[in-house]
Amino acid sequence: SAAVKGGYETFMDKEIHEQPVAVADTLRGRVDERGEIQLDEMRIDPAVLRSVDKIIVIACGTAAYAGHVAKYAIEHWCRVPVEVELAHEFRYRDPVVSEKTLTVAISQSGETMDTIQAVRHAREQGSKVLAIVNTYGSTLAREADAVLYTHAGPEVAVASTKAFLAQITACYLLGLYLAQLRGNKWPDEVADYLAHLAQMPAKIQDLLDGQEERVRALGAELADKTSFLFLGRHVGYPVALEGALKLKELAYVHAEGFAAGELKHGPIALVEEGLPVFVIVPTPRRPLLHDKVVSNIQEVRARGARTIVIAEEGDLTVEPFADDVIRVPRTPTLMWPLLTVVPLQVFAAALARAKGLDIDQPRNLAKSVTVE
Ligand code: G6P
Repeated sequence: SAAVKGGYETFMDKEIHEQPVAVADTLRGRVDERGEIQLDEMRIDPAVLRSVDKIIVIACGTAAYAGHVAKYAIEHWCRVPVEVELAHEFRYRDPVVSEKTLTVAISQSGETMDTIQAVRHAREQGSKVLAIVNTYGSTLAREADAVLYTHAGPEVAVASTKAFLAQITACYLLGLYLAQLRGNKWPDEVADYLAHLAQMPAKIQDLLDGQEERVRALGAELADKTSFLFLGRHVGYPVALEGALKLKELAYVHAEGFAAGELKHGPIALVEEGLPVFVIVPTPRRPLLHDKVVSNIQEVRARGARTIVIAEEGDLTVEPFADDVIRVPRTPTLMWPLLTVVPLQVFAAALARAKGLDIDQPRNLAKSVTVE
């Protein structure tokens, strides 16, 4: 009924709108008044955390894309290599894991069997395991050495939305905590990033208030398209992958995410008249990143693509090449995924709605996959 959905038409709508709260709740109580991170639940010996020489993130689906985003941040902040592994691919090869590896398992449910099996394998090799999970007392929470809960609240819609933002937030707390512990970053730098993180709930809300209606209209308008591309660079790359996944899951259309720089190495051959291409553009304050992605918009547009550009407020350079521009509040590059993924979620849900599909329970999918 509408009552359990908080007045929204679907759980997915409700959960998209709960994202500012999911981020705020995941941050709450974990930063003290001096701007230092306090993770009381981090029950792994600080000496072990200081000696970690590699981090392996294990997850499936949307949670794996949260890990992919986190890689950019954690490597930058901690100077530790981060590998992101799909749990099922990690488990059945011969991965290099040691006592100096920190394994981070990300899962909304904490019950994904592929992830559980991968965690068991990592622990057998002597790695400490930190679980980033949303569900209290879940199997992963019980089996890990420590748990950092995301506080997204129960997620009912099968396709993940608010858990994704909460997972990125928790990973960022972890990354800044490790940087703090290992002395990679000055306290004021950590405090500065935390201040930006703290602003994210309000920015996500502004974005929804300002753009949701337009993005929904765009979803309805493009409902007869059968193929979509998503391009992003740096942290925009996993966002592109997640945007494509949402569209596959909800609307059953072919959608692919690519690293924008890879376009010329193959995917550009797919571009034809009228193909919708989403492009996630980095801030113009990072010109080396920004200008290359703007060139990519030109390249696909010149070949007939219908370009839908996600760009920072005030970035006028994209206007000449964009059929539509979705404007996102200004924020540091590493925070960009917490904003840019939101219109992609809204778009996928709107397109599915226009096709009359069951948004909360797409065909063939399960909320948590408890078999390998
Ligand atoms: C299933 C769900 C996805 C989810 C994935 C991982 O495939 O349909 O939405 O991202 O499992 O689930 P987890 O609970 O481990 O985050």
